[in-house]
Amino acid sequence: MSKAEPVRARHVAIIMDGNGRWAKKRLMPRALGHQRGVEAVRKVVRGAREMGLEALTLYAFSTENWRRPEEEVSDLMSLMKRFILSDLDEFAEAGVRLKIIGDYKAFKPDVVELVEKAIARTAGNSGTTLAVALNYGSQDEIARAATRAAAKGPITPETIAAELDTADLPPLDLLIRTSGEVRLSNFLLWQAAYAEMMFTDVLWPDFTAEHLRDALEAFTTRERRYGGR
Ligand code: IPE
Ligand code: IPE
Ligand code: MG
Repeated sequence: MSKAEPVRARHVAIIMDGNGRWAKKRLMPRALGHQRGVEAVRKVVRGAREMGLEALTLYAFSTENWRRPEEEVSDLMSLMKRFILSDLDEFAEAGVRLKIIGDYKAFKPDVVELVEKAIARTAGNSGTTLAVALNYGSQDEIARAATRAAAKGPITPETIAAELDTADLPPLDLLIRTSGEVRLSNFLLWQAAYAEMMFTDVLWPDFTAEHLRDALEAFTTRERRYGGR
């Protein structure tokens, strides 16, 4: 009898953490850590696309990140804008579909406009979906979803799931967090119910497509039981 094919991950999410510590180790400003973090995003998205991943969800800005100094928040916003301006052409032409999870409309109008143009530009693409979590908090997402579900009828796990920001994505297979922290920080709490988790000490700016490839490889050896046996 032939051996069953290992099950490949369809949807991977990453908590991109450690930009600040990466910079601190080098006595550099935090902003530079974030800048290097963007370079890691570029490489990892290229890798995900080449590896044929259906969906990659990246935690870029949490509902709690507003607690950071104004200057850092504004650095992150301008990096986001610059990333869209510099990389959208490449990703759009490569078939990537951009999606945002989270309440991104709370951002400044120029960011919202740029993001919406990028979403519209890639809406017809059928390659990898890049879901970027902006002003995202899982508790906020679940509260919004539950409100919509309640307006339509009875609340059940299914009716809530259908209203989550991730409703159109494949089920979450693998959640990765960089930088050695072992917590979810309000990311995909619902979706992670049966996701596999991997925590690495690598700081986000040092994370490469090769690390993603290794994680996908390791995923194929995980035995998922979903409570059964
Ligand atoms: C992750 O890096 C980037 C964002 C949260 C936007 P951090 O800025 O959290 O880096 P550390 O955790 O301070 O090292
Ligand atoms: C999680 O990282 C949020 C993002 C990666 C965008 P944080 O650095 O904000 O998380 P905590 O504060 O260490 O839990
Ligand atoms: Mg952090």
